Amino acid sequence: MLIALLPGDGIGPEVITEAQRVLDALRIDGLTFEEALVGGAACKATGHPLPADTLALAKRADAILFGAVGDPDCDALERHLRPEQAILGLRKELSLFANLRPATLFPELADASALRPEVATQIDMIIIRELNGDVYFGDKGMRKTPDGKREGYDIMSYNEDEVRRIARVGFETAMARGKKLCSVDKANVLETSQLWRDVVIETHTEYPEVSLSHMYVDNCAMQLVRNPGQFDVIVTGNLFGDILSDQASMCAGSIGMLPSASLDAAQKGLYEPIHGSAPDIAGQGKANPLATILSAAMMLRYSLGLPKHADRIEAAVAKALAAGARSPDLGGSHSTREMGDAVLAALT
Ligand code: IPM
Ligand code: MG
Repeated sequence: MLIALLPGDGIGPEVITEAQRVLDALRIDGLTFEEALVGGAACKATGHPLPADTLALAKRADAILFGAVGDPDCDALERHLRPEQAILGLRKELSLFANLRPATLFPELADASALRPEVATQIDMIIIRELNGDVYFGDKGMRKTPDGKREGYDIMSYNEDEVRRIARVGFETAMARGKKLCSVDKANVLETSQLWRDVVIETHTEYPEVSLSHMYVDNCAMQLVRNPGQFDVIVTGNLFGDILSDQASMCAGSIGMLPSASLDAAQKGLYEPIHGSAPDIAGQGKANPLATILSAAMMLRYSLGLPKHADRIEAAVAKALAAGARSPDLGGSHSTREMGDAVLAALT
């Protein structure tokens, strides 16, 4: 089993190193790693954020463990050369349309949540974010208005097949959990969302056991802090899912805690923390590696068929937290390496 390791930029390499140490400690037979450049790091070395070799490795590998991309040095480049294009390119080229972002609060972290502990401890949800469409991948550009003003534009669209396949992932996920699905849209304003809602309602007939609700995205943002315990599974589009998952992460303690899986129709996947490259703290050993370590656990569970090993990692993370391991984002002073050490100690 070949894992493509794509550390990327900023804190990406630091957190990937810790995840790899944890995977190594499991001594899984036949697990091999191959590393490649991606993002700003790749752009500086090769002139492109997603070099052909990196894409070929990602296609060849059984799963991909990804750090983060984003580098302020590259913000002035043309858009197609910016680091973020690497992750968008991988998602599109590999048809990774289903992004699973679980948000659960480790009870030990109730105090780290931005919410009152009694509200925070209720959080146990998974956000299913569509990842191959929406305003992210529509026609975009800069143009001039008739009176010569600069104008930027990005087209938002979804077709019914795109909505149906992600809706099914939402319903299937709900069937395996609490059988409650909340579809989030902005159907009071957007035609894209009206189609989204219509297709989700049609798809519901295939899953009569699931209780389906609909929520406008602005209300959902509010409900996530008011009463996050009401959510079991949320299914939403690319842009809304990007925003709501960052918000859910702070409710669940820290953005440094949330893993994600991006899957194609055959469960091949890319696994990454939902946080970004955090250039402000890169190289200082301040990053929390737990989101990446938990992403490695998701990889073992979803793409490699090794749920027992995934359970071991998740249990070790809980044990490390219970033993007091806290990086700065969790209000402590453990370094990235010390957080990794704490998980390793809890594994054995
Ligand atoms: C995420 C990130 C990416 C996104 C960026 C880096 C392009 O914010 O994975 O949530 O917007 O999808
Ligand atoms: Mg994001």
